[in-house]
Amino acid sequence: MCGIVGVLGNHEAAPLLVEALKRLEYRGYDSAGIATLNEGHLDRRRAVGKLVNLSDLLVHDPLAGKAGIGHTRWATHGAPTVDNAHPHRAGPVAVVHNGIIENFRDIRADLAEKGIHFSTETDTETVALLVQYYMDQGLSPRDAALETIKRLEGAYALCFLFEGEDDLLIAARQGSPLAIGHGEGEMFVGSDAIALAPMTNQITYLEEGDFAVITRDTLEILDSAGRPANREIRAVSIENTQVDKGGHKHFMAKEIAEQPKVIGEAIMHYLSEDGKSVVLPGAGLDFTGIDRLTMVACGTAFYACLTAKYWFEQLAGIPVDVDIASEFRYREPPIPARTAALFVSQSGETADTLAALRFCEGRASTILSVVNVPESSIARESDLALPILAGTEIGVASTKAFTCQLTVLYMLALKAAHDRGALDADRLADLLSQLRALPSAFNTALDRSRPMADAARKLAEARDILFLGRGLMYPLALEGALKLKEISYIHAEAYASGELKHGPIALIDKHVPVVVMAPRDGLFDKTTSNMQEVIARGGRVLLITDEAGASEAADDAWITLLMPQVDALLTPILYALPAQLLAYHTAVAKGTDVDQPRNLAKSVTVE
Ligand code: M6R
Repeated sequence: MCGIVGVLGNHEAAPLLVEALKRLEYRGYDSAGIATLNEGHLDRRRAVGKLVNLSDLLVHDPLAGKAGIGHTRWATHGAPTVDNAHPHRAGPVAVVHNGIIENFRDIRADLAEKGIHFSTETDTETVALLVQYYMDQGLSPRDAALETIKRLEGAYALCFLFEGEDDLLIAARQGSPLAIGHGEGEMFVGSDAIALAPMTNQITYLEEGDFAVITRDTLEILDSAGRPANREIRAVSIENTQVDKGGHKHFMAKEIAEQPKVIGEAIMHYLSEDGKSVVLPGAGLDFTGIDRLTMVACGTAFYACLTAKYWFEQLAGIPVDVDIASEFRYREPPIPARTAALFVSQSGETADTLAALRFCEGRASTILSVVNVPESSIARESDLALPILAGTEIGVASTKAFTCQLTVLYMLALKAAHDRGALDADRLADLLSQLRALPSAFNTALDRSRPMADAARKLAEARDILFLGRGLMYPLALEGALKLKEISYIHAEAYASGELKHGPIALIDKHVPVVVMAPRDGLFDKTTSNMQEVIARGGRVLLITDEAGASEAADDAWITLLMPQVDALLTPILYALPAQLLAYHTAVAKGTDVDQPRNLAKSVTVE
């Protein structure tokens, strides 16, 4: 969602704010703005669209001052206009906000009754006006902000700057992450440590309900009950804060290419020294104490869960429910005893997933998470957090996080199967040894990926595209369709191959390419029968398969893309690659914004 930043420095703040916003732009890019204090005087600049528009504005109309706040927006309330862009200002206070103030209409009505006028459509402006109101009643900036926070319902990360207060920032967190950076006689605020990396790696993460009063030399934190709180300062590793394209044209291309390396690292992280078993961190988890698994996530992470369901059920015999996080808690599902709840999230901050996790607290027997950001809320609120070690993922379209999620979930399913006696030690060692060869299969597939780019140029001409898969390939078909629509804006849908004849087959004609994902596994014959049903109706099939599959079915396909042969259980991880590359090259052919597709943001911290 939105990215926020604050600087109390010894150098000009504007360039630092813009640099930090650049690193946060993946969170939202509808508009951006900064406010600074110059000799106590508060001023701001805001621009619609990408951050570059704000940078251009600052060239012609600069802002001086060593203290400031900044924001890059993903619109929730009010269109992306200059008026609605942050920082919002009311008299002596400016504020940047990530999240949603759910009771802003009530506050607005209350302020309107007091004769206070609004100039934007946003929920955030009410926060600024409320602080101004309390300051007009004689409260200090600190107390006015504190009184304001008490009135707010919903999710927020807030950072305030006050006219005449050159050495003060106030920050508050409820439901949206916020980090404080410590420098030498300087302090910083950021939505995450990545934003602050050029300035400091010494980070304090605020906890839920924290209120922070920040000067250049001091940090006072009050917890949700208003008590003074001590929060640890951690040194964040530079590796996890690097944000560059490494010579690639897009972050997405770089992140796709990184997969052999990061998957390999994830495998080695969970592999025992002798390479024959799976080791979990800390106290681990004994799957004999569990009768059921409930998995919850959003978007691509949800498809990782759908894939893992096959593994947990087939290998370990554990019944698995998989839910979309935004539906889960409102359905109020009963959670039987001895149920483990497992949450999958790249960012670890997705509001829907976090809310689902909190619903399971006290209901599920244990709470597990599979996350990319170890300091995230979801990781911190889990009994056992399993990092996927994908490294920073900047492209809005999730790629390497997906395959690393799958890798960790597969290893977890293998452990579950072994714990429960469904997999003997030899078979476990054999499957793990095949898994270790997966990064090399990825490298081979990447080396042979040119035909995928050629095929994508043809797909780019289509208005609608269907994806079909059966068994482990069904969730991957869903992921392929999501990837394609989110970055190329081509309408794409996925179906379980066998479901096609129950309705969607009516969509087939020569204008609708059908991507069929079908390794030569036990379901291949069934899938290719469904493929023939498509061809018989004039449909054009893009078949993704291996050599064995191609020798049987390529003749009838419009295009065939060849993948290296891997164990059938591993195909959803490997076949993610052509799904990603088809989407990537289609988007490039269409000239869309690959890393920052319209209407989207990387980390969705509102419900
Ligand atoms: O950070 P999370 O994994 O919780 O995010 C979940 C989804 O928002 C995310 O996977 C989204 O669907 C991606 N843009 C897909 O590429």
